[in-house]
Amino acid sequence: MTDRPRPLRILGIDTSCDDTGVGIVELTPDGRVTVLANRVWSQAVHAQYGGVMPELASREHVERIDQIMEGALHEAGLSVTDIGAVAATSGPGLVGALLVGLMYGKGLAQALNVPFHAAHHLEGHIFAAASEADLRAPFLALVVSGGHTHLFDVPRDGEYVLVGATRDDAAGEAFDKVARLAGLGYPGGPAISEAATRGDPNAVPFKEPLKGQSGFDFSFSGLKTAALLAYRAGATPENLAASFQRAAVQTLVNTTVRAAQATGRRTVVVSGGVAANRALRDAFAATGLHVVFPGKGLNTDNGAMIALAGAAAIQAGRPASALDGGATAYAPLANA
Ligand code: KG4
Ligand code: ZN
Repeated sequence: MTDRPRPLRILGIDTSCDDTGVGIVELTPDGRVTVLANRVWSQAVHAQYGGVMPELASREHVERIDQIMEGALHEAGLSVTDIGAVAATSGPGLVGALLVGLMYGKGLAQALNVPFHAAHHLEGHIFAAASEADLRAPFLALVVSGGHTHLFDVPRDGEYVLVGATRDDAAGEAFDKVARLAGLGYPGGPAISEAATRGDPNAVPFKEPLKGQSGFDFSFSGLKTAALLAYRAGATPENLAASFQRAAVQTLVNTTVRAAQATGRRTVVVSGGVAANRALRDAFAATGLHVVFPGKGLNTDNGAMIALAGAAAIQAGRPASALDGGATAYAPLANA
């Protein structure tokens, strides 16, 4: 008599920056994945400094990770012995912060005697969208977060070709900086999108950055300076927010659509914190491409996206990671 194939529960951990994230996904033998739990502790301690303090981030991860894992197991209705594989982010990110989740994940996998998968943070952001659709190459992936604005072509599963990236600020960073200069608060993305609902997107005629380029890069620092000048010239925070958002969305969507035309890809994954933006989602939906966004709560940093990346690695037959691998601050995803 053979064992009936059972669902595999994968626990994912992300401690790459200032969010302690633990998530659990279920991978069924027919290849379907379901998010069972997603718990995130967002560290408030950094707000008083106006930026993330790496040493404080590491300490908070140490203090919170047990509680966040217990919360995730409770949310999934599981006990720790139901976990069949563990995935944790090994990079890129703040090394001290990464080490907390990475060591925790390795220790857990060893104690449970289950496979461990080291995950790339950006692959996690991309596979966050696997909560909504069966993600099979080929597709394009736009990762837009506080630290990244990267456009990848994924011609085959597990193969990433960087086709464009920001030349200066990341998209989320630009939202944060414009929100700050207009006194709209932190984090800037949600503040800008909320204020934009009360503003006129045509009030400030921002130019689309790098318009006319033949490549697929992005640039946000000129837009940020133009926003500062417009604010000093008397634009209201609401009009500034709406106009900046229009220009930022336009450059992200237009460049991605051109890349889709150039590569012939029909499916585009849009993920990372900025993918939560309503105007961006609406503009992408109007392109006619098959656009996949992460499910609710999976845009910004979280552990479920790392569990989803782990599930993809397992499905692709990638071997488990060695337990002596370290954390890396800089780790390019593109392998071409
Ligand atoms: O992915 P994430 O949590 O962290 C990084 O890996 O960087 O992204 C955080 C970024 C912040 O810059 C935040 O302002 C932005 O995502 N963000 C948004 C929205 N929600 C979060 N940007 C635009 N619109 C939003 N609704
Ligand atoms: Zn991230």
